[in-house]
Amino acid sequence: MQLNAPLDMHLHLRDGEMLENIAKSSAHTFSGAIIMPNLVPPVSTKDEVIAYKKRIIKAIGHEKFTPYMTLFFKPSYDKAFLESVRDEIMAIKLYPAGITTNSEGGVSGFDVEELRPALSAMSDLNIPLCVHGETNGFVMDREAEFVSIYEKLASAFPKLKIIMEHITTKESVAALEKHKNLYATITIHHLLITLDDVAGGMLQPHLFCKPIAKRPEDREALLQVALQAHPKVMFGSDSAPHPKHAKEACGCAAGVFTAPIALQLLAELFEKHNALDKLQAFISTNAQHIYKLTPLAKKVTLEKKPFKVPAEYNGVVSMYAGEEIAYSIKEITYG
Ligand code: DOR
Ligand code: ZN
Repeated sequence: MQLNAPLDMHLHLRDGEMLENIAKSSAHTFSGAIIMPNLVPPVSTKDEVIAYKKRIIKAIGHEKFTPYMTLFFKPSYDKAFLESVRDEIMAIKLYPAGITTNSEGGVSGFDVEELRPALSAMSDLNIPLCVHGETNGFVMDREAEFVSIYEKLASAFPKLKIIMEHITTKESVAALEKHKNLYATITIHHLLITLDDVAGGMLQPHLFCKPIAKRPEDREALLQVALQAHPKVMFGSDSAPHPKHAKEACGCAAGVFTAPIALQLLAELFEKHNALDKLQAFISTNAQHIYKLTPLAKKVTLEKKPFKVPAEYNGVVSMYAGEEIAYSIKEITYG
């Protein structure tokens, strides 16, 4: 089977040595990706976006791949600043303060009036807002509790495109239908696992992420919209590499690394559910419409041939490391 211009609409590429080590695993098979800004310090100025993009381009070497850059949302962004940075970014990512890796400088309180100047300016300039939607409540309820904040923002800024990132609950799926300007990304791991896979037996640190995988009925709701390629959902891997020692540790870092196997796993999943004909929309076409982008031409051919996932990719352990998955990448062509 062939995929045209696969897009990863939520990706962590990191910086420094990690960037050098893992960038190619996305750049090889994807046509482009939305790059998350949660570096230390977060990407929050025009110069930082431009410099980070340059480092990414260097790290991907000869691969053909478009990094779509983002800024780390701050309520202090004003219209003049956003106008000046508009052409360098595809979106702005909002993190609640302290909710996940490197999000300490995020937003607290979600007071619409405090956020109004920045969000109105983004709305006027057609800059989408990507949101990590979790409160600081009980871990299993954080995303469902955040839905009322999504709804408040969606109503207060009806022209602002709001992307609910890496949704994991049936409540977020329901919110998609209620507000015209709410969209969502879905990861491959949240389509495959529940909390049982993370903590039901021996603890699986390589499946631990934020938001944590939820209940079977939540995964079912995600599958429903992904497998029909609902036009408001798109693939975003949230592939988030951490060094092996940071995952296999007391105090395990949150993040599942899926970049090198994401397309193969999606092919296997969509085939299992007789939905292979919907994968193109989920992996690229929907995102092109939502973000109004034209991706770099790249065709990825997958074949149903077992692939043994390596134990490590440059010191990073991926999902299903050491296991066999059903699909392999056969060929990548351009143009
Ligand atoms: O599990 C996660 N890891 N969730 C996030 O939101 C951030 C990410 C990371 O940067 O490691
Ligand atoms: Zn993320």
